[in-house]
Amino acid sequence: MKALSILATAAAAVGLAASVSAVRADTIKVGVIGPLSGPFSIFGTNFQWGIEAYQHDHGDKVGDDTVEFVYRDLPGVDPAKSYSLAQELVVKERVQYLAGAYFTPNALAITPLLESANVPLVVLNAATSSITTSSPLAVRTSFTMWQNSVPAAKAAKEGGLTKVITVVSDYGPGVDAETAFATTFTAEGGEIVESLRLPLSTRDFNPVMQRIKDSGADGVFVFLPGGPPTLGFMKSYLGNDLKSAGIGIISTGDVMTEPDLPAIGDIGIGLRTTYHYSTAHDSDVNRAFLKSIAAIGGNVDQATMASVAAYDGAHVIYKMIEATGGKQDAAAAVKAVEGMSWESPRGPVSIDPETRHITQNVYLREMQKVDGKYQNTEIETYPAQPDWGLVKQ
Ligand code: PHB
Repeated sequence: MKALSILATAAAAVGLAASVSAVRADTIKVGVIGPLSGPFSIFGTNFQWGIEAYQHDHGDKVGDDTVEFVYRDLPGVDPAKSYSLAQELVVKERVQYLAGAYFTPNALAITPLLESANVPLVVLNAATSSITTSSPLAVRTSFTMWQNSVPAAKAAKEGGLTKVITVVSDYGPGVDAETAFATTFTAEGGEIVESLRLPLSTRDFNPVMQRIKDSGADGVFVFLPGGPPTLGFMKSYLGNDLKSAGIGIISTGDVMTEPDLPAIGDIGIGLRTTYHYSTAHDSDVNRAFLKSIAAIGGNVDQATMASVAAYDGAHVIYKMIEATGGKQDAAAAVKAVEGMSWESPRGPVSIDPETRHITQNVYLREMQKVDGKYQNTEIETYPAQPDWGLVKQ
């Protein structure tokens, strides 16, 4: 309660500052929270690359105002720390916008603060559907588990799998992925033989491989958060000969993010995943985006879905600043981007006016080696379906 009343006071002070600033050029701060250190640091670094690439392409001014991004490191799942970092950014740094959130619990810890602080949150990764329903000031430029898991189930069926075991991390996005996959796969005539939910901290997947073998499944669908868990799972899957034993794998692209492809190696060639972005996406906008990542000193071989979400997130924030003339009015800022559409490095996208999720194509990709480098080549498109982003019960 105390924290909230401090916030309300700070919000009032910020409101005052904003009305004074309407008559002169100002610096508008955006607080970005993400994993900049620790095992998931490549994804926080990707947030930074995406934002810096956007400012490289579009400058740091919107009208007369200068846009400044301020970063805070949150290495893992830590809702209490996420809350306190967001509060500190609002109260001390006087940020007018918040962005980031790699993990769902960290996003959900921030959404209750938004209205009293008069600050929108642009979610740059966290993918549980319910995040945007937890606050009218939350907008998402990443993806939802439903968006990527429904096509995974369709691809599984089209690829000939009939009996699937699902394996997910036991938290929001895992539960969404499991539900979306199972609902779609059974509707298509497939069977779910077993559903495993693993603690988020699981790093030894060898016992799980035995359960998969024993389940009688001809395929496994997996969701774990991109990073050390997904690489661990894939190495275990490939190392335990499941592939050669005829147990196929179909999954969202979280298990095959670009930085992990060299460590997966030749044995992974041919593996298929469904996702909204591959750095191999064949478009001029994507090639220009990767050039900008390189221009700001980023490593194109390590660029992921997190950098494209941040690039597009910066685009949404610029639009919000433009629409509000730099004034702090979170509701008006969010309203201004509802229905907004543009060409992203991932393809055509829009912000669904009802759910404030990004609507986008999802691609079936196959891991290939092209000119000596591994990539996820997009081989089929599942056209954008706004309702895949909705909360499904
Ligand atoms: C999430 O916590 O929502 C999350 C994290 C990593 C992913 C996907 C979803 O790869």
